[in-house]
Amino acid sequence: MSVVVPHIIKFDSVDSTNSLLKELAQKGANEGTVVVATTQHAGRGRGGRIWHSPEGGLYFSLLLKSYPNRRPTDMALLAGAVMAQTVKHFCPQPCLVGVKWPNDCLLEGKKVGGVLCEAIDHGDSAALIIGVGININTPLSELEPFMGRPFGATSLREGCGGKCFELESILERFLKVFFEHYPKYLEEGFLFLQTLWERECLFIGKNVELRNTGTTEESKDNVGGVRGTFLGIDEQGAIVLSDSCGNRRSYVTGEMTCCW
Ligand code: BTN
Repeated sequence: MSVVVPHIIKFDSVDSTNSLLKELAQKGANEGTVVVATTQHAGRGRGGRIWHSPEGGLYFSLLLKSYPNRRPTDMALLAGAVMAQTVKHFCPQPCLVGVKWPNDCLLEGKKVGGVLCEAIDHGDSAALIIGVGININTPLSELEPFMGRPFGATSLREGCGGKCFELESILERFLKVFFEHYPKYLEEGFLFLQTLWERECLFIGKNVELRNTGTTEESKDNVGGVRGTFLGIDEQGAIVLSDSCGNRRSYVTGEMTCCW
């Protein structure tokens, strides 16, 4: 198996690092190309949302070309777990950091980062763009409009008592850890990823609510969302909940909106 060596290309302001890397990939950019930008004026989040990207945050996209024909969602789970490990590494004191299904990173209960993974056609196989956004030194005023969302928003600086962080070191650490785990995933398969992800998950055994699960059955029976005890993820990467009668059910889509 060939080792992927990251090659970082820095930009000032771009529309979206995912969109830019997609263009570069179509022009022949190599596996391991990483596009990083100081700001994005059309940063994209999951579910068609905007990813607000002012100065102070870390915004980058990583290209995987030799990704075998496995699910893009696996890489989003991997990137989410690596993001949690990276954020934890930089917290000067022990902080509550981990993943919220499927790939958000929470710091002290608030969202600090997210992942947007996109597959693109690449000859016979699919290439993958893994986009990561982390609020690092982002001023609180920039995050205020997002405080009303489930779990709100924070930055590493805000969660760590005002300390300022070097974005390059955080990017380097993320890539180092990602490329330590990636070959193990390729060799060992999903079980490796499931174990890693569940170790970084903050909600195992907790009662959670899931909205927008995308099935008409749920929207009819559970107007306020589906509730259950979070057991973990299954071999598809879907969230597994157990209801009050102990029945297990997996959900491929949805958004965790609260936990108690
Ligand atoms: C989410 O939580 O909704 C995912 C956010 C992903 C944002 C990152 S920032 C770098 C990359 N470029 C984008 O346009 N989006 C991703």
